[in-house]
Amino acid sequence: MCSRGDIALKHAKALVTRRWPQAVEQRMREVFDVTFNTSDTPMTHDDFRAAFQNFDAIFPTVSDNIPADAYGVEHRRVSLLANFGVGYNHINIPAAHAAGITVTNTPGVLTDCTADLAMGLLLCAARRIGEGERELRSDKWVGWRPTHMIGAKVTGATLGIIGFGRIGQAVAQRAHHGFGMKIVFYNRSTVAPEITEMTNAQQLGSVRDVMAASDFVSLHCPGGDETRHVIDAQALAAMKPTGFLINTARGDVVDETALIAALKNGEIAGAGLDVYAQEPNIPSDLKALENVALAPHLGSATRATREAMGHMAVDNAHAFFDGKTPPNIVHG
Ligand code: DGY
Repeated sequence: MCSRGDIALKHAKALVTRRWPQAVEQRMREVFDVTFNTSDTPMTHDDFRAAFQNFDAIFPTVSDNIPADAYGVEHRRVSLLANFGVGYNHINIPAAHAAGITVTNTPGVLTDCTADLAMGLLLCAARRIGEGERELRSDKWVGWRPTHMIGAKVTGATLGIIGFGRIGQAVAQRAHHGFGMKIVFYNRSTVAPEITEMTNAQQLGSVRDVMAASDFVSLHCPGGDETRHVIDAQALAAMKPTGFLINTARGDVVDETALIAALKNGEIAGAGLDVYAQEPNIPSDLKALENVALAPHLGSATRATREAMGHMAVDNAHAFFDGKTPPNIVHG
């Protein structure tokens, strides 16, 4: 099995699991002996097991379902998983580390665009923009009237943030300085005053406290076992009936069934969602609801950001096969 520094860059066999922006694919061709999954469809269980045996580096992403038995596959060759994305809940970090596989990710470069999209979904849900567009496109709009499609006021409202890391803070910046919103948040560790002072944000003691205090709640914690269903029926019940839930983090953070019930029963006013429990399968009950704005996992989907993510993944692998420490190692 090869390890870092053993393989001259041009001889490192790399597999990119989905299509990447052209400019980054071109760089990959120049740097590595690269194979692209040109079908751009999710790889199967067997594809992944074979990939772990046949490549030195795999460049996976959030839509990859890496099977548990790939990490310990016999004759394993892979020594690097250079993830395209900041979230890595699709990679079993303990299993990768136990197998001696280095994992890297792409933090920072998608912060702004994900925060922008969270604000977009918040506005879309509060101001019923999607619903209005559907009405107009189906020729049902009969004209302006004082009681037409009344939404919720965003400016000056209270925004609760769950997970006050890079993206949570970036959303707080936009909401506080752009929309005069009051910021409260929940974060597992205490956040330093020099950070909270930037948005006059108040750290509360529990998720429930944030749900209860907020007009809008935006989720920015990582996915995975530790945060699975942090937003469950009880957390939703703590929200104001006029409250909105925004999720650009990971689908498994929210109990989707409980959310659909809360939206249907009017326990909360609405939601803006970019991520789902079983992507790309969205429950038909959710799609049928008018009080939810739905986006197809677009958080980082701008040319500038997707190129930056790709280049960062390549930089990580470049360093690894050069025998250096990759700049963005996931320690788990
Ligand atoms: C991430 O990086 O985690 C994003 O969700 C993928 O776009």
